[in-house]
Amino acid sequence: MTYGHRKHPRETLTTTRPQDRIHLAPAPSGRAPSYTRRAFLTTAGLAAAGLATYSNTLARHELVHSKITLPIRNLPDAFVGFRMVQISDLHLHGFTESWFLEQVIGQVNAMDPEVVLITGDFVSRGGSQRKITQAAGECAEILSQLKAPQRFGILGNHDVAVGANRVIEPLEAHRTPVLVDSFFALERGSDLLWLAGADDASIRLPDLDMSIPLYPKAPVILLAHEPDFVDHVVKHPRFPLIDAMLSGHTHGGQIRLPGVGPLVLPPLGKHYVQGAFQFEHMKLYVNRGVGTVGVPFRFNCPAEITEITLQRA
Ligand SMILES: [Fe+2]
Repeated sequence: MTYGHRKHPRETLTTTRPQDRIHLAPAPSGRAPSYTRRAFLTTAGLAAAGLATYSNTLARHELVHSKITLPIRNLPDAFVGFRMVQISDLHLHGFTESWFLEQVIGQVNAMDPEVVLITGDFVSRGGSQRKITQAAGECAEILSQLKAPQRFGILGNHDVAVGANRVIEPLEAHRTPVLVDSFFALERGSDLLWLAGADDASIRLPDLDMSIPLYPKAPVILLAHEPDFVDHVVKHPRFPLIDAMLSGHTHGGQIRLPGVGPLVLPPLGKHYVQGAFQFEHMKLYVNRGVGTVGVPFRFNCPAEITEITLQRA
């Protein structure tokens, strides 16, 4: 697996040259001159404002392409080398602007995948009903610019919180099927690959007996918004049938301080925050998402588009 992680420009973090440092040693009179304190506060204020601007305008719109391979047991010939793209947590018109989502769609189109998987949180909770309905409609419309032959979505906790049908209806009207405790068979000739979509696990109770086919006789990829739901998945009787699980929800922590890690993580997104995790035969991959919630900031945690290639295990 290669896991792209662009380095932030160092100069945005360390801007103070030795000759610019402010010394707070007392003046010869024994009393620190008031301008020194003022200068310190001004510099600190400017640095905080600069960091906030960087986190909001630059870091929040930094997009990283991650490339992973998923080794799948008994992968049928037609799906060896099969390429899918995962995007997640779009949160349109929470803080995500239409132009940024359109930029994401443009980059996904340039990757030319066979299928696009969107793992929940199309919109954000909060705001008026009118604004949310408008955001859901616009999101569905922008997603219809995807050129991949097929695309599928699942629900996230924000989608359920604003009313699942408010999100599902425009998506399905714009040819993005939403898998809610249901499955779909991708067919290539006589070969099959199952996409299984779990309902949101934060607000509702997914039913894996409904989302995982009982006798799939082909690989199964489970889409489930909340990654910590995996702890339930591995105990479920149908776990042996699941070959991979794709999640989002955490935004990778959104703000990751060096040496500290993510500042805030959501319920059911605390253990498997970003990247790949192995559970016996099954790999879980957690995508950092496109949008943000709570604050319009990312730091040390860029938005992500994941290109997934299937290989025979
Ligand atoms: Fe979420």
